[in-house]
Amino acid sequence: MKCRAFARHFFCLDMYTFLLSNFGDKSLTPSPVNQMTASFSKDFRQGVDINLGVGYVNDETIPHSQLAECFQYVLAHTETYKNALNYGSADGSENLRNAIRNYYLRNAIGGITNPLMDSKTICIGANGATSLLDSLAEILPQGIVITAEPNYYIYTETLQRKGFEICTIPEDSHGMRSDLLQKTLEQIDTEKLSFFYIVTVNNPSSIILSNDRRKEIVELATKVSRKLGRKIPVIFDKAYEDIIFDTTIEKPLSGLLFDKDGLVVELGTLSKIIAPALRIGYAIADNSDLMQALIQKTSDIGFSAPLINEEMAARFIDCHIDDHALKVRAGYREKANALQQLIQTHLGTYLERYSGGQAGFYFYLTFKQIETHPGSLFFAYLSRKTGDPVVDGNPMNPRLIYVPGCFCVSQNDRMKSEGQRQLRISYGFEDIPELERAILLMRDAAEYVSKTAL
Ligand SMILES: Cc1ncc(COP(=O)(O)O)c(C=O)c1O
Repeated sequence: MKCRAFARHFFCLDMYTFLLSNFGDKSLTPSPVNQMTASFSKDFRQGVDINLGVGYVNDETIPHSQLAECFQYVLAHTETYKNALNYGSADGSENLRNAIRNYYLRNAIGGITNPLMDSKTICIGANGATSLLDSLAEILPQGIVITAEPNYYIYTETLQRKGFEICTIPEDSHGMRSDLLQKTLEQIDTEKLSFFYIVTVNNPSSIILSNDRRKEIVELATKVSRKLGRKIPVIFDKAYEDIIFDTTIEKPLSGLLFDKDGLVVELGTLSKIIAPALRIGYAIADNSDLMQALIQKTSDIGFSAPLINEEMAARFIDCHIDDHALKVRAGYREKANALQQLIQTHLGTYLERYSGGQAGFYFYLTFKQIETHPGSLFFAYLSRKTGDPVVDGNPMNPRLIYVPGCFCVSQNDRMKSEGQRQLRISYGFEDIPELERAILLMRDAAEYVSKTAL
């Protein structure tokens, strides 16, 4: 009290505040996407407004009753699932790590063989793959992070707040362009390289990284690491790889297959294939210093995911995941096909191109001329903020939220790049009639913008 009174007496009250770290200071302002979604969700009207901005999964495919059975089973079988309601460990439940290992080997995921798997270690994050990504940013030196353009804006924004510099490499229909990566590595100060962050089914674009590109990226990372005399980690984020539902696509190979020097860390999650609320993400890599530090960091956060969730997930993977994965993929395939049809029919004339529809649950649209950023007329139409009473006046006019592409491009290029004409829509959560309503709204917005521009 005395101190407070002293401060009141001698200082302006504005100065009487918390002293935050540099990172804390930067975290005072919500990220642009968080600001946008917060203002939308504040007055979101269920059944009227549509949110295609959030990355929620398809609720229909979450195995509620099977998870309830697994929960009961775990609690009833303490000989296998010891102390499931107690604290867990830093690297994760052995049952879960074994279940993941067997799931990979049984299904030949990534082409990983028994001996390769035996040479790797698995650790479970504290809170999904997100916490592993965050931990990596804590244990790796600040510097340049190489990632694709468009990029996973949530993580790149975190990295920037933590003092990393993002260097983006454009992608084509096969993923990050390795020719441009090579060129960039020749141009930048590679001494400053921190790590490569490669999302194998990219968010936002849903473009699947081809096997050739995976190999080339690992080879380029190996070359630059050897030149520098230190290992530059290659983080493959496989968040959406379990939901590649286009069966004509080549089976994705694990980056670990091409990794001669032990640079690759593969990150997976159970969020998309089982349930995000389990908050289980995992890393597979050589048992290196990097993995040891990652495990210690997980311990600092409060250990790996809640043990009961890990044990339930272990039981689920052992008994149900193979059949369940087929249903999940079928669910997304049906929605993707319906939405693709709607996009082509109603937005086709306005679009330069789009990607998505083979994996994950996003479509990424590039308009020919229409701008989509938060200052654009298209955005204003869909948020009912045009100032035109015909558009904004009727309170029952629905609003629609999407992720503007400008958030997914590097900050330097934000104003000039084609991100200004791009957007991501998510079809994970909403059902098909709602998706149709959304596309018709976007068509109305595009018509309005086109007429207004005349
Ligand atoms: C590319 C990417 N990585 C990681 C995650 C986070 O996964 P988790 O739910 O395991 O934290 C997401 C979530 O949407 C994602 O899009």
